Amino acid sequence: MPAIAVLGCMWGDEAKAKIVDYLGSDADYVVRFQGGSNAGHTIVVKGKKYVFHTVPSGILYPHTKCVIGSGLVIDPFALVAEIMALEAAGITFNHRLFIDERTGIVLPLHKHLDLSSEKQLKSAKIGTTGRGIGPAYADLTARVGIRLIDLAHHRYLKRRIQELYLYHKHQEEASEIAELIRQLEECWKFLRKYSCQTGNLLHEANIQGAKIIFEGAQGSMLDRSWGTYPYVTSSNTIVDAVGIGTGFSARCLDEVLGVFKAYATRVGEGPFPTEISDDIAQKIRKQGNEFGATTGRPRRIGYFDAVLAAHTIKLNTIDKLAITLLDVLSGIEELKICMGYKLKNRVLTEPPSHPLDWEKIEPMYVSLEGWDQNLNKARSVKSLPQNARIYLEAIEDLLEKPIKIVSVGKERNQTFVINKG
Ligand code: IMO
Ligand code: MG
Repeated sequence: MPAIAVLGCMWGDEAKAKIVDYLGSDADYVVRFQGGSNAGHTIVVKGKKYVFHTVPSGILYPHTKCVIGSGLVIDPFALVAEIMALEAAGITFNHRLFIDERTGIVLPLHKHLDLSSEKQLKSAKIGTTGRGIGPAYADLTARVGIRLIDLAHHRYLKRRIQELYLYHKHQEEASEIAELIRQLEECWKFLRKYSCQTGNLLHEANIQGAKIIFEGAQGSMLDRSWGTYPYVTSSNTIVDAVGIGTGFSARCLDEVLGVFKAYATRVGEGPFPTEISDDIAQKIRKQGNEFGATTGRPRRIGYFDAVLAAHTIKLNTIDKLAITLLDVLSGIEELKICMGYKLKNRVLTEPPSHPLDWEKIEPMYVSLEGWDQNLNKARSVKSLPQNARIYLEAIEDLLEKPIKIVSVGKERNQTFVINKG
């Protein structure tokens, strides 16, 4: 049984969880390796919607074990609340959730720093999810961060938190620090049964032939190093982050699946070359319910960008593609796919690096005819209208990778495999 990474290959919200869920019915492990509660992973089962922020979405299958790797930053308060809400919905966690002891902690201070830096940046703001992700990762990199296992050591935790406040020149009453520590220790009482070293668990499982799915969060264009910097998240999101965030080297993966929407979206600020704001954008936003699962913000809409897709396919050594939300494009007369960028007199086939160049590039499109038929009932490529098939073939031809999975609706069963090989 394979180890598979399922990665968002644009700016997040590619319906990664839907693909993880589709592949996950016989998975032994589903593993998150980066990000935190900035993620909003939605799965709909028989009309019931589940939104995951830090818990791997594989928890929906009662036999699947879930791992939160050391590469994440977890907000212990939000995580306890998420687990309790899922338990109230009938999901059991005992012996099924494993959180790495080395996982970073997001403190209320990090949320405060996130929100206040966004305020200060004004027009240069990033448009973060406000979950404290950037400051928490920055502190880990600066070696002043707090990790899950620190919550088990009272005196050490107190010292580290005092030092962290000093580092940020942040004044806090001793009584407030004491109260924070008390609350963190309450969280620890709840979380300690899930805490362990997860690296060996995955190595052993792999040796035993387990099926392991690594569930990406965000997307490659939000990668801290390779995305549209500075309008990115603060973790690496590409395939190599699997090794960094779990101790299970990306070299041991058997398959890397790249998830793309049939069009493009982005939440927050930053370059988006194929963005549109016309009637077509309104229609897509409405049909695709393009509002953030974490913040509720309306998502920005654009055409499929094959330049960026080719870039992220290379970055991630993608083997196969999953194309989601194809049904949302029904009823759009003309569909466009971006195949190159014009920058002054040059044609670029790679994205630029500098934000000033991103502002100047003009997308070059190929146009395709759309289709009117509703796709929600399609369960094979043969049952798609001809123009939808042509659209998918155009994506395969431009990216030179086979499409393995197509999704045509929110429900678990509105997904099919078109290339088993
Ligand atoms: P999933 O896993 C879409 C975006 C934010 C902002 C930038 C930085 O659901 O695909 P951060 O809070 O991470 O510092 O914000 O990244 N962003 C996402 N956009 N989906 C996500 O996760 C995102 N997580 C972060 O909107 O532009
Ligand atoms: Mg999201």
